[in-house]
Amino acid sequence: MADDLLSQIRLNGAVPRHVAVIMDGNGRWARERNLPRPLGHRAGMKAVREAVEGALEAGVEVLTLFAFSEENWQRPAAEISALMQLLEEYIAREVAELRHQGVAVHVLGDRTRLAPGARAAVERIERETYDGARLALNLCISYSSRGELARAARLLAEEVLKGVKRLEAGECRLSNFLLWQLAYTELYITPVLWPDLTRRDLFQAILDYQGRERRFGRITA
Ligand code: FPP
Repeated sequence: MADDLLSQIRLNGAVPRHVAVIMDGNGRWARERNLPRPLGHRAGMKAVREAVEGALEAGVEVLTLFAFSEENWQRPAAEISALMQLLEEYIAREVAELRHQGVAVHVLGDRTRLAPGARAAVERIERETYDGARLALNLCISYSSRGELARAARLLAEEVLKGVKRLEAGECRLSNFLLWQLAYTELYITPVLWPDLTRRDLFQAILDYQGRERRFGRITA
């Protein structure tokens, strides 16, 4: 149980609106147990539920999870296919509960590279949860921050060329995952391997955040 940490979070007050997590350590978790890597990913899938529950309980508005990077396409075909199968399984298993809990799922990344089954599953979960109002869950799949920047810059250039957008400062708002937001983002590094994550760890991170002084480049009086 993690109620003690949750009570402390509530006493402290401000909860971060957006928590973004690199789900790292599935491979090491499996190796520590002499298990094949895909079993680490499977255990990681369970931790996703734990993180979602924790975010809902703490009142986080946006939870962004890095599930599969563009670089991950270079992993062995068997691991990629195990991950894609897990993605489909996750969606089939979770969609009803996420919808029930008011979670809106958005998938970020280059979905054109996904196999048809995985792509259909991704579209399904977005469609069936779109009106969730309690938590936005961003799943980054086939995602890279550089790719996102390049795509955004290309789209912007196209809109400027078409005359849809003018090249004036302050007019452009480009969505991005982390590179830009990281400028003043509070980072919290945990030694916990992703499959071992519990809501206690999420709550510890929030408590750590609450203990920091956010100055955004200024100094305090
Ligand atoms: C990185 O750990 C993790 C991944 C590449 C996959 C993350 C996937 C999941 C947590 C499960 C599926 C999630 C969803 C939303 C269906 P790693 O393999 O690099 O671990 P290591 O650094 O210990 O080798």
